[in-house]
Amino acid sequence: MAIPEEIIQELKYRNDIETTISQYVNLKRRGKNLVGLCPFHSEKTPSFTVYPESASFYCFGCGAGGDVFTFTGLMENLDYIESVKLLAERSGVSLPEDGYNDSMQRLKNTVYEINRESAKFFHSYLMSEGGKWAREYLLSRGLALSTIKKFGLGAAPDSWDALINHLKEKGFSLNDMLTANVVGKSQRGSYYDRFRKRVMFPIINIRGNVVAFSGRAMPGDDKAGGKYVNTSDTPVYKKSENLFGINYAKNHCQENVILVEGNMDVISLHQAGFCNAVAPLGTAFTMEQVNLLARYTKEIILMLDADAAGQKAAKRASELLQNTGLDVRVVVIPDGKDPDEYIKKNGTERFKALLEGAVSDMEYKLLMASKDIELNSDEGKLKYLAKAAEIIASSDDVMTRDIYIGRLCDKYGVSRAALTAKVDELRKRTNSYRKKQEIADIIRPKFTRDDINPERRISQKATAAEESLLAVLLQHPDFYNEAKNSLPSDKMITSLNRRIYEILISALDSGKSLDISVFAEKLIPAEIGYLVSLQNSERAGKNAKAVLTDCIAVILEEGSLLNSSKNADASVEDWASNLQNIINKKAKGNSQNG
Ligand code: UTP
Ligand code: MN
Repeated sequence: MAIPEEIIQELKYRNDIETTISQYVNLKRRGKNLVGLCPFHSEKTPSFTVYPESASFYCFGCGAGGDVFTFTGLMENLDYIESVKLLAERSGVSLPEDGYNDSMQRLKNTVYEINRESAKFFHSYLMSEGGKWAREYLLSRGLALSTIKKFGLGAAPDSWDALINHLKEKGFSLNDMLTANVVGKSQRGSYYDRFRKRVMFPIINIRGNVVAFSGRAMPGDDKAGGKYVNTSDTPVYKKSENLFGINYAKNHCQENVILVEGNMDVISLHQAGFCNAVAPLGTAFTMEQVNLLARYTKEIILMLDADAAGQKAAKRASELLQNTGLDVRVVVIPDGKDPDEYIKKNGTERFKALLEGAVSDMEYKLLMASKDIELNSDEGKLKYLAKAAEIIASSDDVMTRDIYIGRLCDKYGVSRAALTAKVDELRKRTNSYRKKQEIADIIRPKFTRDDINPERRISQKATAAEESLLAVLLQHPDFYNEAKNSLPSDKMITSLNRRIYEILISALDSGKSLDISVFAEKLIPAEIGYLVSLQNSERAGKNAKAVLTDCIAVILEEGSLLNSSKNADASVEDWASNLQNIINKKAKGNSQNG
């Protein structure tokens, strides 16, 4: 629900930020601002700042930030709208029932409601007499009733219109059901339930909304047509940006996250107490998913099936994770089992041991390289050592190389000097490759997990320009026409800044002022903190107009640079070498011009 701007403003006057925060934090004046010890993380010197001028706060220590509603929400564990309601109540202001004006937001809300209603429908069907077959199936797979409830599992009846009828009764239109993708439309124009006679897994995003479904056929149901039917992309769902289980895992993965292949694996692991498991949703692991995880964790444990598909997925994931700053370890599950089967058969303790034995990416590659080689013969050993030397040579860290060289020498009884020489030779030979890799490393610098915008590594320069541009616009909304005309939002390089830019433009387009409330419903709290830090930063400087023009130029230029080097499936090496070509070309162009 969107609350009218005048009411938000009125509530802000009535709940002055300084007074409100002072009820929780001991604030001291510093210049025109106030500082205190942050209530959201533990600290000894104050980095929590209140800006009365913009009625906002920001903590330089933990990145929390926002307005008086965000603050109250964080203190009282409420979402934005709920804290607006609370402060309205406290100050005796009554809120209008409905304040919708944004039709896209309205459509999204309708889709969320359809999803929630469908999830409830599937769940109560599962629990009813009619859903016995699905319930028995889930129980037979070792799921406890409490787990079924926790994940909101359900069942779709064997019917073409049961859900349609239910949703109609609740007042939803066929068109909106179609948009939510719970309903399909035949060529002859008739509508039908997309999920029939399936066990239903609701997919829930980090904010706790049901955004999609994955429906599994019953084993042996030949007519089902596909083991899984999944929601395709909708206004509230992009499968490449979501992970199954993230709604729970996000609170349990400070140290690491376990990446498995299937929904059932996630559920089994959570049931066994490994609440940091997530799975991609029927797609290959994507960069967007890496970005999502990078916000919450330091390390990813790839736990993939021992079959060929699993190995391929592991390889792809480990490539994606290179240079992201996230640590990666790999677990291969013995006996060709998936994690779900393994934990059921061997129990929690054995599974824990498996996790503890997770090897580094390097060990894993060395292990895989030995797979098809007969290691008992001298010939085989040499062949393996040659391969292994190549793998070790690919590490840029001299300590790491030394450790693995040592291990192989012990194991295969070769001299350390010989293997080191071999590795060094390989490194020299692949030096040109290394150089390109280094360029890639510079251009895609490592990010810390505290960085709310992990795509920064795509282009440090462009991201900085985007941030300054947003700072200028937040402080000087009157410049927005100029920005809008010369910088269409799709030219913004990092998706977070693009989203902020889009919200900003559409707010100004509809004549709203850039209040934090405009962003509050579309950004997560940490992103609001980022926004507030931009809003209060000095980036705009004295000559904001010139800063704006410069930023736009940098973003456009970096964008076209990146674009020409983009190649959907290019490996990091191809990508880096492409980039090298462009840089060479540019250098040449510059020297010719000047
Ligand atoms: P699996 O076939 O390994 O399924 O696919 P599973 O999750 O382990 O299910 P069980 O144990 O057989 O019941 C792994 C994941 O790939 C996606 C699903 O997300 C599934 O969880 N998938 C698989 C599809 O989207 N479509 C398919 O047809 C198959
Ligand atoms: Mn399985």
